[in-house]
Amino acid sequence: MILYFSATGNTKYIAEIIAGELDDKLLDLRERIKSGDNSTIYSDKPFVICSPVYVCEIPRFLMKFLAKQKFAGNRMVYFVFTCGGYAGVSGAMMEEMFANKKMLPMGHSELIMPNNYVASNFNKPNEENEIIYRLEKSALEARIAALKIRHGRKLTARHVFMLEKLVMLPFTPIWVKVNQPSKPFHTTDKCIGCGKCEKLCPVNNIRLADGRPTWKAPCAHCMACICNCPVEAIEYGDVTQSKEKYNIRKYLSKIK
Ligand SMILES: Cc1cc2nc3c(=O)[nH]c(=O)nc-3n(C[C@H](O)[C@H](O)[C@H](O)COP(=O)(O)O)c2cc1C
Repeated sequence: MILYFSATGNTKYIAEIIAGELDDKLLDLRERIKSGDNSTIYSDKPFVICSPVYVCEIPRFLMKFLAKQKFAGNRMVYFVFTCGGYAGVSGAMMEEMFANKKMLPMGHSELIMPNNYVASNFNKPNEENEIIYRLEKSALEARIAALKIRHGRKLTARHVFMLEKLVMLPFTPIWVKVNQPSKPFHTTDKCIGCGKCEKLCPVNNIRLADGRPTWKAPCAHCMACICNCPVEAIEYGDVTQSKEKYNIRKYLSKIK
C-alpha cells in the first residue's frame, strides 16, 4: 500500500506513479491526520510511505501521526521523499522509527522536485523549465524505485551521516519556531470565503471567521492553503506577493 501526505501535489504525483507501477492501493493520509484516526492499516504488499521534506526532516505532524500508527500484514516498509534539494535526516529518522515498530525498513529514495516553499525568504521559486525538468526526472526515478520495490530490493539514497543528525536534530525545532510563525498569513480582497484552505490544512489551524480564514499557531508552513487557493487570495506577509504560488496542477499538462 502506498501512503502519502502532499500539500502542493509533488508527493501525490510520485505516490500515484508508484501505485500505478506496483498495481497497489493509494492512501491519502490527510483526513486521518486531521481527525487523529490511527486505526490499524493493513496491507499484504510492502508499505511505501511518501512524504515531502520540511526543514531537513519529514513534517513533524506526519512524524507524530506515524509514530502512533499501527501497521498490519506485510512487515516491509519503503520511504520515498520529495524535496527541493536536500532531504537531510528524513531517511534515518523514518528507518529508526519503523525499526522500533519491529518492521523491516527497506531504504529510502530522495527525489528532487520543484520547491514549493513560497513563504520562505530563503527560497527562490524554480523557473518553469526547471520545474518541468524536475517533474519529468522525478517521474522516471519513481518508476525505478517502484521496480526495486516490486523485486524486493532495497532503495539506496545517500547515507545520512551522524554529523548531520547531530546538527539537524536540535537545530530544526529552533529554526521552525523562529522562522515559521502563522501570523503573517492573510487574505486579500480576492478571498471568496470558500473554505478550501480550512479543509486542506493538515493540522486544523485554519478557521473561517466572518467568511474569511484565520490562522492559529503552530502552523506547519506546509503551503497547502496558500498554494491551493482557487483565487490566489492568500499571501504571507510581504514575502509572497510577487511569487508564483507553486502547485503541480499548473504544470501537469506541460510534462511528458
Ligand atoms: C516548510 C517547508 C520546508 C521545506 N524544507 C525543505 C528542506 O529542508 N529541503 C528541501 O530540499 N526541500 C524543502 N522543502 C521543499 C519541499 O520538500 C518540496 O517542494 C516537496 O516536494 C513538496 O511536496 P508536496 O508538493 O507534496 O507538498 C520545504 C517545503 C516547505 C513547505
